Amino acid sequence: MADVATLDDLVRRMAAATRGATLYSPSHPLVQRGVDALAALCQTLLEQTDSLVIGFLGDDVVVNAQRLPRSASALAGFARDLREREIEKISVARGVMKEELSTFVLELADRRSPLALSTRLEQKGVRNITIGRINVEQDPPATPGMAAVKQVYDTAVATAEELWHTAKAGDKPDPNAAKKIIESLARLVGQDRTSLLALTALKRYDNYTFTHMVNVSVLSMAQARALNLQGPLLREFGFAALMHDIGKVNTPLEVLNKPDRLTAEEFRIMQQHVVDGAHILRRTPEMPALAPVVAFEHHLRQDLSGYPEKIGRRSLNLCTQIVSIADVYDALRSKRVYRDGLSSERVRAIMTEKDSPAFNTKLLRRFVNLIGLFPVGTLVRLNTEEIAVVVHEHPSDPFRPQVKIVRDRAGAAIEEPLVVNTWESGGGDAPWAVVEAVDPEAVAIDPLQYM
Ligand SMILES: [Fe+2]
Ligand SMILES: [Fe+2]
Repeated sequence: MADVATLDDLVRRMAAATRGATLYSPSHPLVQRGVDALAALCQTLLEQTDSLVIGFLGDDVVVNAQRLPRSASALAGFARDLREREIEKISVARGVMKEELSTFVLELADRRSPLALSTRLEQKGVRNITIGRINVEQDPPATPGMAAVKQVYDTAVATAEELWHTAKAGDKPDPNAAKKIIESLARLVGQDRTSLLALTALKRYDNYTFTHMVNVSVLSMAQARALNLQGPLLREFGFAALMHDIGKVNTPLEVLNKPDRLTAEEFRIMQQHVVDGAHILRRTPEMPALAPVVAFEHHLRQDLSGYPEKIGRRSLNLCTQIVSIADVYDALRSKRVYRDGLSSERVRAIMTEKDSPAFNTKLLRRFVNLIGLFPVGTLVRLNTEEIAVVVHEHPSDPFRPQVKIVRDRAGAAIEEPLVVNTWESGGGDAPWAVVEAVDPEAVAIDPLQYM
């Protein structure tokens, strides 16, 4: 890539050409010369790279991830002007023509037009220069609220059930239904991750199969989002995660729901779901290419032990590694026919056991940080023997959430639940502290009603 001085020169030429266009008429030789100089340098630079992305971040100007030295007032003025107009980013793609640069400079200089710059560029056929905000996916500040989030979640579970039955009947699952639901879940992962994760924490005993599909999708997208993936790739991850176990449509129910340990033969039958899943997904139209890969790989561990066996050398896809963490986490904490659900703390202990090679340890550490010890929506027992619902996490100390006390020490419901910060010491009395997570069913409390 070009050196900083050349990139600095690029922004200067852009600023100079724009300044020229502000002062003189478009046909003035000075304006032409400014555009020529800019076009020449763009051309040279675009021989080495596909695109030039100029970002204006606070007082800094960044070109293709290289920060330019803070310097001359001319550049600072240009940057300030763009910032005021909420232009944080200018991208110039390879193939840009001089006419496009000329139009861009003239439109940028025209501050009187009532139309947005991006609209004008589009109308004038400028295809290779785009302007915008730094963050493509701005998360709107308003959160949709628990009721709305729950509705999306429930629709997702219903859609998962439909997809399952279609696949079971031997038909191709409808990719559009799946896409729609992934779209709303992906948006919620950006807008209101906390509420969505709280929903995944509710144990549902009746339809584990479908809630598991949705939970793994949500937990995977939350991880991917935290790794800064967004847009179509984020959705592909969510899609692949949703379908990871689809091969189980071929697993006989007596094996799938067997309360006891599987025999060797039954285990072999169960293992078949990874191969079956890959087949089903490969022949489903519009399925992202990632989906069969993840279905095939999701029971492989980091050292390629697990199943399917004898697959030769390969490195697991990032999406697989994310999905397998979400998969095991959700399976462990959900109550199944043969086992009670586990508190999230227990789950965390199991998953972080002696750097198990089952998971990518870096991703696992990030996951535990993401989910927290006592996620919002968790029921907890306090040192005072009172029962409370976690309503906020402490920004830095996962052991000290804000809770709402809903049962007194005798187990009686509290009419007006008391909100307590377990990080505060309280006046003289022993401070509140969280002792452990409690299974909502064991105490017959629906934590959602308190959020
Ligand atoms: Fe599986
Ligand atoms: Fe699974």
